[in-house]
Amino acid sequence: MDKAREVALKILYKIEKENAYSNILLNDVINKNKIEKGLNKKEKDKREKDKREKDKKGLNNKDISLISEIVYGVTTWRLTLDEIIKKYSKIRIKKISPWILNILRLSIYQIVFLDKIPKSAAVNEGVNLAKKYGNKGSVGYVNAILRKVDKDEERNILDNIKLNNNNNNNNDNDNNNNYNMKDLETISKCTSMPMWIIEELKNDGLDNNKILDICMNSNIRPNVSIRVNNLKTNRDKLKDILINENVKIKKDGILDDFIILDKVNGIESLESFKKGFFTVQDEVAGLPAIILGPKQNEKILDSCSSPGGKTTYIAELMENNGEILAFDIHEHRVKLVEENAKRLGINNIKTKVEDASIYKEEYKEKFDKILLDVPCLGIGVLKRKPDIKWQKKREDIEEIQKLQMEILNTCSKYLKIGGELVYSTCSIFKKENRFLIEDFLSENKNFKLVNLKDIIKKKINNKFFLDYLKNENFLEVYQNENTDGFFICKLVKCG
Ligand SMILES: C[S@@+](CC[C@H](N)C(=O)[O-])C[C@H]1O[C@@H](n2cnc3c(N)ncnc32)[C@H](O)[C@@H]1O
Repeated sequence: MDKAREVALKILYKIEKENAYSNILLNDVINKNKIEKGLNKKEKDKREKDKREKDKKGLNNKDISLISEIVYGVTTWRLTLDEIIKKYSKIRIKKISPWILNILRLSIYQIVFLDKIPKSAAVNEGVNLAKKYGNKGSVGYVNAILRKVDKDEERNILDNIKLNNNNNNNNDNDNNNNYNMKDLETISKCTSMPMWIIEELKNDGLDNNKILDICMNSNIRPNVSIRVNNLKTNRDKLKDILINENVKIKKDGILDDFIILDKVNGIESLESFKKGFFTVQDEVAGLPAIILGPKQNEKILDSCSSPGGKTTYIAELMENNGEILAFDIHEHRVKLVEENAKRLGINNIKTKVEDASIYKEEYKEKFDKILLDVPCLGIGVLKRKPDIKWQKKREDIEEIQKLQMEILNTCSKYLKIGGELVYSTCSIFKKENRFLIEDFLSENKNFKLVNLKDIIKKKINNKFFLDYLKNENFLEVYQNENTDGFFICKLVKCG
């Protein structure tokens, strides 16, 4: 039996049964089987050969790529794959054993989505897995379903969704919110997006085309985007260093400090990463630090800082001067901030394990600027973390909103008069973002919104983000082909 597919099956089973995160499980596999970077091809081949001989069950790079592809793909497309299973199965999804269900999902994913794998190979490997993880009956059942799945038919349905949606929208009176429920259900089934997320977006006032766009952009492979550490190097120098490490550069980022790379396996094993020349970060996640606009002599609080992607950018923008206090509620996560700061050569960050929702008198009006990158549902980063679609529920919105408001209420008291606060999330629901800020402002008349258009125009040499500005005060970025989804706004304390 093919080892890669069996490992993929075990990971998928764990994700579903134990609510485990796919990226963590995949990293475990990659780290256990890592072939060190920096070796030349001959050395790598020898290392790999030795490894295979030592442990016949060892996985090579090709196996790891297939495992990542299957785990990521099945997790992303789970709902659509289940729709295909429903079409051919007499047994209801809920009644199928989790092992067999995941064997069906991973085999159908290969048949429908992976062009390089012949259908016969996907079917045979699926049947082999069923022999080990099922019983006699389930082997015949898996075999019968997989043989019936028709790649062309399924691709046709998925590829036509955009066209169908455009046609349907012509008859759809979105202004009156009189939309056809069936359209949204089709979008859900064809883009593997849970209906509750689609309904939330509809309630936020988005039209069907925009929702479809968001759903489709939640399924694409994210950019590999890195932020140059200007304390140690600069963008041009880093590009040369990366090229010497055989990394392919795709293009410069939208933001001056960013570079977009071609797919890199094991980016964290590159010497340039270990030496702290860059941080892996989506471009939109770099924006809160730029919009905060920290100055060299200021005292800054980052209330929810781990793993430190934004804290370290603030430190770099301050050229390692001033003072940054970085809170996180979890001790093990605070350590991540410390490790990242050390790797990047930053020494103006102090960390503290602290619950940012609980008021402490000692911090009252102590900070010139505050970043609140609060915990959120993460609906903007689905292309990186597809598991979120299956782990979060509609009911979670209320709970997270409560925590976000508590953190905002508490930390706003830590701001000096005249100080500025940036609130950001990697979620796209208005309840976690704009509505929450509007509620806060109605209770706290001493805070005012800052116009982001002026800041973005002045600090960013690109029009890209201006398109996502609402009323010049709220930056509502929905996931798109360049970046994740994100929300940012800035408040000033007037009295
Ligand atoms: C969105 S993440 C922050 C990402 C970080 N700003 C970055 O750019 O790398 C939210 C963080 O908030 C932390 N957190 C959750 N509840 C908290 C609380 N009550 N007080 C402080 N930190 C909290 C989580 O542990 C998590 O690390």
